[in-house]
Amino acid sequence: MSNNTDDFMAMKGAGYYSRATIGAKHVMDNATGLILNALDRLPPKDDGSVFLMTDMGCADGGTSIDMVKRILREIRERCPTRPIQMTYTDLPKTDFSQLFQIVHGLTPTETYMDDIADLYVSASATSFHKRIVPPGTLDLGHSATASHYITEVPAKIENHVHMVRASGAVRQAYEDKGAADWVNFLLMRASELRKGGVLALFNFGIDEDGRWLGHTGGVTMFDEFNRHWHAMSIEGKISPAEYRATNFPQVYRTVEQFTAPFTEETSAVRRAGLTLEHVETRVVRCPFAAAWKNGEYSSAAEFAQSYIPTLRSWSEPVFANALSKSRSADERAELVDEFYGRYEKAVATSPEGHAMDYVHCYLICRKE
Ligand SMILES: C[S@@+](CC[C@H](N)C(=O)[O-])C[C@H]1O[C@@H](n2cnc3c(N)ncnc32)[C@H](O)[C@@H]1O
Repeated sequence: MSNNTDDFMAMKGAGYYSRATIGAKHVMDNATGLILNALDRLPPKDDGSVFLMTDMGCADGGTSIDMVKRILREIRERCPTRPIQMTYTDLPKTDFSQLFQIVHGLTPTETYMDDIADLYVSASATSFHKRIVPPGTLDLGHSATASHYITEVPAKIENHVHMVRASGAVRQAYEDKGAADWVNFLLMRASELRKGGVLALFNFGIDEDGRWLGHTGGVTMFDEFNRHWHAMSIEGKISPAEYRATNFPQVYRTVEQFTAPFTEETSAVRRAGLTLEHVETRVVRCPFAAAWKNGEYSSAAEFAQSYIPTLRSWSEPVFANALSKSRSADERAELVDEFYGRYEKAVATSPEGHAMDYVHCYLICRKE
């Protein structure tokens, strides 16, 4: 088992991610105005230089495609003489082929490739914990639903799989790691950005009412993950060591934790010239739970069947990676299937309260 997030993390490939994760698309579509407003406040100059935009932690690029289209159209209109470079970034195990198929129009997803003149699309597999593009070249850095991935898990959570339920020294270790990785992430972007450039980050986090992804009043999703995985360890399907090795390499930060590098007097992020223009939290409702409430499924089983993939599309590598490599690949795949099958059965049996509502903290920053 690797402790380094870069070594195993990837959203489910072959288009599964963006097909199943329509809620993440809603997050970006609903918040595109925050970026357009930032471009309005300080319009980019039409000076003939390359306009560079990044989408960091893009997965297969399907969820951001409409947001990117709206922004690039706006740039094309405002800056007719500037070639546009659109750079998608994620980790090396990402299905980049799927990304290129989506962006180049080889899938049913509508793309923007033929709409925008003088556009150059490329991808990078460099972690966002490092500098991805050369210093002083970035006009618009964007990342949605990705900055919660930390470089590695700092401690084992004995009785749970996610830091939202950790306490004491273990919780502190996650928060410290989250703070250090966050400052580093911002410093990397401060270095990449040109003067006047924008950084738009739509981050998973903990809002002012203590809500987080899948914890907005009903069944808590991470508790459900833990319940089924723990049951499999009690029944001997997975070993206690495998259960204990299962910790999401993620930190959900509070609004105070997100904004601290911008408000603290001595902060390296402030010294690097990065300022905060806008911060807000929002909850975007789970589209599958909403459809269930609206009576759009014929049965609870049908709801469960369409709901579980939206959890599986991003969480699967964490469970799969915790299983011993002495097991065969088939055995590991069967255990992971059984785990999600148990979750699906629980939803089908008692569907009320299951919802993966998205809780984000939106930040718009500027390089002064
Ligand atoms: C939940 S997905 C979000 C995808 C897309 N941005 C969206 O909002 O639908 C998180 C993405 O972040 C990527 N990721 C995690 N750690 C990363 C890192 N250090 N550098 C780049 N991407 C990373 C994951 O591989 C994954 O594709």
